[in-house]
Amino acid sequence: MIRIDKFLSQMQVATRSESKKLIKMKRITKNGVTVTDGGEKCDPQKDCICLDGTPIAYQEYHYLMLHKPAGCVTATEDRRDKTVMDYLPDNLRRGLSPVGRLDKDTEGLLLITDDGALNHSLLAPGRHVPKTYYARIQGIVTETDVTAFQEGLDIGEKKLTAPARLEILHVEEEEQVSEILVTITEGKFHQVKRMFQAVDKCVLYLKRLSMGSLHLDQELAPGAWRELTPEEISNLKEEAK
Ligand code: URA
Repeated sequence: MIRIDKFLSQMQVATRSESKKLIKMKRITKNGVTVTDGGEKCDPQKDCICLDGTPIAYQEYHYLMLHKPAGCVTATEDRRDKTVMDYLPDNLRRGLSPVGRLDKDTEGLLLITDDGALNHSLLAPGRHVPKTYYARIQGIVTETDVTAFQEGLDIGEKKLTAPARLEILHVEEEEQVSEILVTITEGKFHQVKRMFQAVDKCVLYLKRLSMGSLHLDQELAPGAWRELTPEEISNLKEEAK
C-alpha cells in the first residue's frame, strides 16, 4: 500500500505538490470515490485510481533511456561530480540505478531502471548483450586491427577479450584520426579504451549507440531522457533471458 499522492508522482502524473492540488480540486478518485486526502493509501495492483475519470495505468518498474552527456559519472550519488541521476526529475530518481557504467567522458545510451532482475541479467557474465560504440581514434585503424579485435586482445586480464566486431567508417590520413564502430559483448572497466591501447591507439571520443536491440533515440539531445516503449522493454527482457 502506498500514499495516493506518492502513487501519482511515481506514475509521473504530477509532482507531489501538484498531486495535492489535483486532490484538492477533486479530480482524483479511488474506485469511483473522490479522494480528499493525499495521505490516503491505495494498493496500485488492485485499486483503480482515476484522474478526471481516466484510469492511471500502474507501472511496477520504470525503464528510462538517458542520452548521457560527457562530464557526469555513472553513479546514483557522488560527492564531487554530477551524476547521471541529476538529469532525471526528483520524483523518478528513488530506487533507480544505471545498468552498467559509462566513463565520465563517454556519451550515449544509458539504461536506467528499478527492475533489479533485468539489470542483473543484462550484465550477468556470459550473457552480456552486444553493445555498439562509435569512436574517434587517434591513429590509423587498419584491417589488421579488425582481425585482432575479432581474435581477442590482451588487455591485462586473465583471458583475452571475447571476439569484437570492429568496423572502419572513415580514416583521415593527414590528421591520423579514424572513425569506427565497435561491438563488444563484455563490460570490463574501460574496455573499449583498453582494447585500442592494446593495438597502440588512443580513443579520442566514445559514444554508446546501442545495447542489444535498444538504440539511442536520435531525438534525445545529450542530457535528455525518455521512458522505454513497451516493445523496447519486452525485447530487452527477451534478450536477457
Ligand atoms: N568502454 C570504455 O572504455 N569506456 C566506456 O565508457 C564504455 C566502454
